[in-house]
Amino acid sequence: MLLHSASQLLTLAGPPQRGQELGRLAIIPDGAVLIRDGKIAAVGTSEELKSAYPSEEALDVSAKVVLPGFVDPHTHLVWAGDRAAEFEMRLEGKTYLEILETGGGILSTVNATRKASTQELIESARSRLWQMFYHGTTTAEAKTGYGLELETELRMLDALQALDSEGPWDLALTFLGAHAIPNEFAGKTDEYTSLVCESMLPALLRWSETQPGQNPLPFVDVFCETGAFNLEQSRRILETAQDLGFPLKIHADEFDNLGGTQMAAEMGAASADHLVSVSDADIRALAQSDTVAVGLPGTPFGLAESKYTPARKILEAGGLLAIASDLNPGTAWGESMQFAIALACRYMRLIPAQAIAAATINAAAAIERHEMIGSIEVGKLADLLVLDVPDFRHLGYRFGINLVQSIIKEGEIFAVKG
Ligand code: NIG
Ligand code: FE
Repeated sequence: MLLHSASQLLTLAGPPQRGQELGRLAIIPDGAVLIRDGKIAAVGTSEELKSAYPSEEALDVSAKVVLPGFVDPHTHLVWAGDRAAEFEMRLEGKTYLEILETGGGILSTVNATRKASTQELIESARSRLWQMFYHGTTTAEAKTGYGLELETELRMLDALQALDSEGPWDLALTFLGAHAIPNEFAGKTDEYTSLVCESMLPALLRWSETQPGQNPLPFVDVFCETGAFNLEQSRRILETAQDLGFPLKIHADEFDNLGGTQMAAEMGAASADHLVSVSDADIRALAQSDTVAVGLPGTPFGLAESKYTPARKILEAGGLLAIASDLNPGTAWGESMQFAIALACRYMRLIPAQAIAAATINAAAAIERHEMIGSIEVGKLADLLVLDVPDFRHLGYRFGINLVQSIIKEGEIFAVKG
């Protein structure tokens, strides 16, 4: 198939974009893409590709913007129930960490998730996944972390594997058994940390080895925060995971600065996420590493807080920056990467070109898939979006509606609007 006549073809060609390079869209005006066997076979101007492939089935996208599918590198896609009552409590003055301390927050979602069947988990996550997909997310990371016991954690992984194989999207799996301290371990975080290290992570390895298909080992993540895991406990979990061969992620500096960002950079984690309360030293350490800083602007927005990831400082220091939705029932129930871009432009002070690169090629780097997705280059998966806008800057500028006209996932077309 030859997609041609895109008014702006944002290729994002090249490696992940560090520091002030962020925002290099590598635009081809009147652009065209040749797709074969689900992959990108050629990229150029419409004139070049139409004359080189005259008999190819053609798809005219005149007056449309074409860009790579969004990669959402941080979601908590699978859960049961909702936290609408807590939303109200927070609006009335309780903080997120206060609610967690009294057994609510993540722990109330844990209760609901443990009670749900795997089939129920699949069904509720599936409807969110279709929303994500129709808003342009062609690949997403998705975490466990609402089981906090081996059986439910593995059921969440089973649900994710089932969803990955049934739909057009791709999922990158993450084990977040260290998301909170379950009630049965209240006051015994060290003991729960030992359980994660000595029993859950080896079981995760056995689970991974029995999975069919080519999916790489899941990431292992930890919520390094006051009221969750301290720096030493987080280090124990990540070091054990690394020794077993798992790639790493971390939730760090969302509320309090515990040193998780620097530790992630030193350990070579794929990403360090949240980074709202980061110090200048953390930013320097991060910038000297290949660890991607993932900003989650939907989270402070969802919590009605005023501090966001200091994206400009990260870029000035030369760091790699991505953005994600953080889709979850507590802080950020929002499926749309278009909305994350709109928030990143306003509150992380990115310009649209930077936010787009942060949501595509750099987001792919945050899940170690930048060799296969995140840009429109020969050999990569044909994961593309056609936007019904005259100029790419409408991404970021506009919000609350879907600008995607159609999604092409590995060469297959899904129409959102006629
Ligand atoms: O990334 N902060 C920890 N985890 C999630 C929230 C999960 C929840 O509240 O259910 C986050 O914001
Ligand atoms: Fe999260």
